Amino acid sequence: MLPCVCWLQPLLVLLSSVLRAQGENCPASCLCPDPHTVDCSGRGLTRLPDEIPLDVRRLLLSDNCIPRIPSDFLVLYSDLVYLDLRNNSLSHIEPGTLSTSSRLVFLDLGSNNLTEIPSGTFGQSRSLIKLRLGNNPYLSRVNEDAFLGLTSLRELELERNALSGLQVGALSQLPSLRVVRLEGNPWVCNCNFANLFGWLEENSQKLPNGVEGMECTLPMDGRRVSLSQLSQDSFRECQITLTLTDLLIIIFSGISVSVVAIMTSFFLASIVHCFQRTSKTTKGDEEESEE
Ligand SMILES: *[C@@H]1O[C@H](CO)[C@@H](O)[C@H](O)[C@H]1NC(C)=O
Ligand SMILES: *[C@@H]1O[C@H](CO)[C@@H](O)[C@H](O)[C@H]1NC(C)=O
Repeated sequence: MLPCVCWLQPLLVLLSSVLRAQGENCPASCLCPDPHTVDCSGRGLTRLPDEIPLDVRRLLLSDNCIPRIPSDFLVLYSDLVYLDLRNNSLSHIEPGTLSTSSRLVFLDLGSNNLTEIPSGTFGQSRSLIKLRLGNNPYLSRVNEDAFLGLTSLRELELERNALSGLQVGALSQLPSLRVVRLEGNPWVCNCNFANLFGWLEENSQKLPNGVEGMECTLPMDGRRVSLSQLSQDSFRECQITLTLTDLLIIIFSGISVSVVAIMTSFFLASIVHCFQRTSKTTKGDEEESEE
């Protein structure tokens, strides 16, 4: 019995020193369940913890009150592949936070306080596969080029935000997109929505519940209808409006062309007139000198 304990003792010492060494690398009040994971979720943090090991690959920071991530964060933590910032107080993502060279595969920014996704926010990060941006109650603007260059992005979540519209380019620029969540937004089915509606009908297999799960407000009477109740025909009037605009453009350009033509002929006529007068005078002079 005794020799057995003696045998175990050095092993236990070694084990506890390894654990202590790991604990030393782990930020205070966080957990580090494995050498590449730092779990600081639900710790009441109001900023990023200090002393996160530089080789961290999975960083869990959900359910805190973190208001910002510095733009050089992913430069510093260049091995990071999984970043969970769900349910924090982020109001914007600083430009340059993500870049083509970042290794981030998973980014969760859901349940924050984002208001806008400007062009190039995700810096053409080619490794990003899943991006969660849902449940940001003030998120009302997503730029057409917001997701530009995210060539590997397969899943995009934009559900339960404040989007009344979205330019179809934001989605059609994503070559690997398989799943997109858009339900629970206050969509307005006006003419701007017509293009997105067309894209959604063609890509309904990418919506977890098809267009069935999406609703929009009709601009004429404020009624909310399911997108499945609408068809391309519902937006027919938009085409008429478009033709009308086109017609106006044509009329206007017609008028301007005529005005330019009239002015040009007037100008030419005056030149000719002047030229004739000058040549007459010269002729008169010549005649005079001959006399
Ligand atoms: C969000 O985080 C707070 C703590 O900051 C927590 O009390 C709350 O339950 C979390 N909400 C969700 C939906 O998880
Ligand atoms: C979220 O943003 C809104 C408006 O932009 C602001 O009124 C509110 O205080 C913000 N909330 C938090 C928790 O930062």
